[in-house]
Amino acid sequence: MKGFPNYLVALALMALACSIVSAYDPAPLQDFCVALNTTADAVFVNGKFCKDPKLVTANDFFFPGLNTPRSTTSQLGSNVTLLDVSKIPGLNTLGVSLARIDFAPYGLNPPHTHPRATEILVVVEGTLYVGFVTSNPDNRLITKTLYPGDVFVFPIGLIHFQFNVGKTNAVSFSGLSSQNPGLIVIAKNVFGANPPINPDVLIKAFQLEKNVVDDLQKKFAA
Ligand SMILES: *[C@@H]1O[C@H](CO)[C@@H](O)[C@H](O)[C@H]1NC(C)=O
Ligand SMILES: *[C@@H]1O[C@H](CO)[C@@H](O)[C@H](O)[C@H]1NC(C)=O
Repeated sequence: MKGFPNYLVALALMALACSIVSAYDPAPLQDFCVALNTTADAVFVNGKFCKDPKLVTANDFFFPGLNTPRSTTSQLGSNVTLLDVSKIPGLNTLGVSLARIDFAPYGLNPPHTHPRATEILVVVEGTLYVGFVTSNPDNRLITKTLYPGDVFVFPIGLIHFQFNVGKTNAVSFSGLSSQNPGLIVIAKNVFGANPPINPDVLIKAFQLEKNVVDDLQKKFAA
C-alpha cells in the first residue's frame, strides 16, 4: 500500500467490514422497536413502524410453549416452529430468531436455504444426520451425525438439511441470525413454483424426462 496514508487504508477496511455486516439485518439504532401492523400509536424507526416504547410490555418479547411436541404426521415427518418477528414483534430490528424442529422417526427437514441467516442448531433428543453443501465449483458436502447435546452450524445461504436417522422421535432447536431468515425449499420452490416454471426449463436443468418433471410439478403444486 505504498503511497497511501495508513488512515486511508484503515478507512477502506472499515468500510468493507461495515458493508459485510450490513449485508444481513442492519444493526439497531435503539434498544428495541416492537413491530406494529398499524401506524396508530406508532413511531417510525429504521424503515419500520414501532410501538411507542411507553406502550411496550413483556408480552411483546414473549412466546410460550416451545417445550410442547409438535405434530409430525406431515408427508416429510417433520415440523418447523419458527419464532420470527411475525410471532414475536419485539424481535424487530434485533437480527435473531429461534426455531424448534420436531422429527418423526426418519422424518426429514428437506434441503433448503435461509437467504438472510446463519443457523446454529442443538439436538435435544434423537439422532440427526445433518449437512450443508458449499458453493460452486466445489459443491462439497459437510456432514455429521448428531446426538443429544451436539451443536452444528449451517452458514448463511447454503443448502442444508436435517434427517432423523434414529428409530425414535428427534427434537432440535436453532438460533438464526435474522428476525426474518427467509426459507427456500429447493424441491418445493423449483417444482412447486406458482405459476409453474416452463417444464422445458426443468427437463433441461435437471436432465429429467418430461413425465418425471410433470409428476414432480404435480406433487409440489400448492
Ligand atoms: C399483525 O397482524 C397479524 C395478521 O393479521 C396478526 O396475527 C398480529 O397479531 C398482528 N400484530 C400486531 C402487533 O398487531
Ligand atoms: C405442526 O404442529 C402443529 C401443532 O402440533 C400443527 O398444528 C401443525 O399443523 C403442524 N404442521 C405441520 C406442517 O405438520
